[in-house]
Amino acid sequence: MKEKILIEEAKKARERAYAPYSKFKVGAALLAKSGNVYTGANVENATFGLTVCAERVALFKAVTNGEKNFVKLAVAADKDEPITPCGACRQVLSEFASDLKIICANLEGKTVKYSLRKLLPEAFGKLDK
Ligand code: THU
Repeated sequence: MKEKILIEEAKKARERAYAPYSKFKVGAALLAKSGNVYTGANVENATFGLTVCAERVALFKAVTNGEKNFVKLAVAADKDEPITPCGACRQVLSEFASDLKIICANLEGKTVKYSLRKLLPEAFGKLDK
């Protein structure tokens, strides 16, 4: 799948964020090996601490639809420099996709590409690996 399409999906998902506290909306689109795309947006909570990031929403939607293998993730937010997934999301993503490609985009069309391996080197893995 073209990266542009995945970024567009992340931007569309971003519009459905629930972010009344930070007012910072984030969207994510995760491409599974099956070819299916799962989107997510951040869902905040009055406690603040129970907020879930866009990336984890997308991943959990995918996993609970039977997906376990992933190729690419696009993340979209409205910032001069594209944002990268937070540390918690990096760890959760690495459970399923240690070599995931990550495309971080802002709304002006700027993109930066990473691999999850680069963003989370020496990640903690399953105990039986
Ligand atoms: N957020 C995400 O959804 N993804 C990220 O990669 C970084 C941060 C959300 C969490 C919170 O709702 C808001 O952005 C501000 O931190």
